[in-house]
Amino acid sequence: MNRRRRLYEGKAKILYEGPEPGTLIQHFKDDATAFNARKHDCIEGKGVLNNRISEHIFERLAAVGIPTHFIKRMNMREQLIKEVEIVPIEVVVRNIAAGSLVKKLGLEEGMQLPRSIIEFYYKSDELDDPMVSEEHITAFGWASPQEIDEMMSLALRINDFLSGLFYGIGIRLVDFKIEFGRLFENEAMRIVLADEISPDCCRLWDVETDDKLDKDRFRQDLGGLIDAYQEVAKRLGILMENPQNEPSGPRLVTSRE
Ligand code: TMP
Repeated sequence: MNRRRRLYEGKAKILYEGPEPGTLIQHFKDDATAFNARKHDCIEGKGVLNNRISEHIFERLAAVGIPTHFIKRMNMREQLIKEVEIVPIEVVVRNIAAGSLVKKLGLEEGMQLPRSIIEFYYKSDELDDPMVSEEHITAFGWASPQEIDEMMSLALRINDFLSGLFYGIGIRLVDFKIEFGRLFENEAMRIVLADEISPDCCRLWDVETDDKLDKDRFRQDLGGLIDAYQEVAKRLGILMENPQNEPSGPRLVTSRE
C-alpha cells in the first residue's frame, strides 16, 4: 500500500514526498504516451527498465562531474532524488537529423548534423511544448541568461559523454531531451540535471542495423518496445544475459542492494 503523499503525477512518472526534507521519490509508471498524450498505452515492464537505465546513466554522469538530482534507486520502480525547482524548459540536443527537425527543415532522416544542435521547448501541455528561443526564455523569466549558459554547457558535456558511452555498446545517440532543476543548498542555488534519461527521451539507433531502440517504436507503431529497452539495458551491462524468457519481466542485477 502506498500511503505517501503524492505531489505530482506526470505522463510517465509520479513524484511522492520523500523520507527527509529536501527529498522526493520518483516513481516510474508503465504508461507510454506520445503526441502530448493523444496516443497512450500501458507497456508492462517499461517503468522498471527506465528506472534502472536512468539510474545507471545518472550515476555514470555523476562520476564524470555532472551534478544531478539523483540520490539512489530504492526499488524496481522508484528512486530517491533531491527536491529541485524544475526549470520549465526541455533542452533537446541533436547529433543526427530525425523527428521534428526532419519535418521542420525537410532534412533527410539519418543525416549527420554539421555540429550538435541545442533546442529549447517551453514545458506546457496546453501549448504542446512549443519551441522557444533564448529571447523568449529570458524575456518571460523562465531562466536567466546565466542559467541558460549553464544548461547549454551541461547539455553539451552530457552529449559528449553519452555519445561515447552508447557508441561503445554499438548504439548511436541520435538526439535526446533533458530537464534541469534549481537545487537550493546552503543558501546557494545551482543548476542540476533532473527528471530522467532513458529510451523514452532519447533516440538510440543500432550502429550496424539502424534499428530503433527507443520510444519511436511506440510513436511509430513498430512494436517490440520492451525488447528494445531490454537490449539497451543488456548492452549497458545492467540486465542479466539470458533471462530464460521469464514471463515475470526483466531480471535485474541485484548485487548492489
Ligand atoms: P523531436 O524530434 O520529436 O523534437 O524529439 C527530440 C528528442 O526529444 C527525442 O529524443 C525525443 C525527445 N522528446 C521527449 O523526450 N519528449 C517529448 O515530449 C518530445 C516531443 C521529444
